[in-house]
Amino acid sequence: MTEPVKVSIIYYSSTGTIAEIAKTLAEEAEKAGAEVRLRKAPELAPDAAIDSNPAWRANLDATADISEVTPDDVVWADGVIFGTPTRYGNVSAQLKQFIDTLGGHWQQGLLQDKAYSGFTASASPHGGQESTLLALYNTIHHFGGIVASPGYTDASKFVDGNPYGTSHVDAQGQNPVDDTARTAAAVQAKRVVRVARALRDGLADN
Ligand SMILES: Cc1cc2nc3c(=O)[nH]c(=O)nc-3n(C[C@H](O)[C@H](O)[C@H](O)COP(=O)(O)O)c2cc1C
Repeated sequence: MTEPVKVSIIYYSSTGTIAEIAKTLAEEAEKAGAEVRLRKAPELAPDAAIDSNPAWRANLDATADISEVTPDDVVWADGVIFGTPTRYGNVSAQLKQFIDTLGGHWQQGLLQDKAYSGFTASASPHGGQESTLLALYNTIHHFGGIVASPGYTDASKFVDGNPYGTSHVDAQGQNPVDDTARTAAAVQAKRVVRVARALRDGLADN
């Protein structure tokens, strides 16, 4: 029997929107036949900042049982989906800090030839979602990874309108993750599983 394809969902979330999408992606990747690791980037903010926002503390508590990411979660995987809230149109410092610990693994070629994809959320419509995902994808080129963005590969992508990755406008917590974002997550998870499997099997023969 063929080994299941391995997918890591690696995210940072302050107030829970990205955590919620990450869980949906993990469920959908499992449904698509993958063995999945769901991992969070460690929090870097001081307690004073976290406690200034009840939703931030609540999300930290609610996700306490999710393991913190280690470099092996990237090395292990055939496909990696990174998630980050948009921060001024860019990747959050917490996710970036984890990515910046991967230099040694990059140098050994352990990050290349995998399928990578990204997801994000913003407070305002558009809000920098696309620039955040494109900024994330800059890193993937340096890894020698293969960007498996969803594009318009499913009719639902014409509804959510973001070919770069799953995204959601949370209106600062007023707008919970909805069916549009969950459908986008399902499409993205299936695509990453498919591309990661094709890469793994294709590279094994070459
Ligand atoms: C420092 C900082 C910068 C942010 N920058 C933007 C931004 O440029 N555009 C935007 O729409 N939302 C911005 N936001 C809002 C978050 O990206 C948004 O609420 C996101 O959905 C939160 O995800 P989370 O609940 O997983 O933490 C920013 C929030 C913070 C704290």
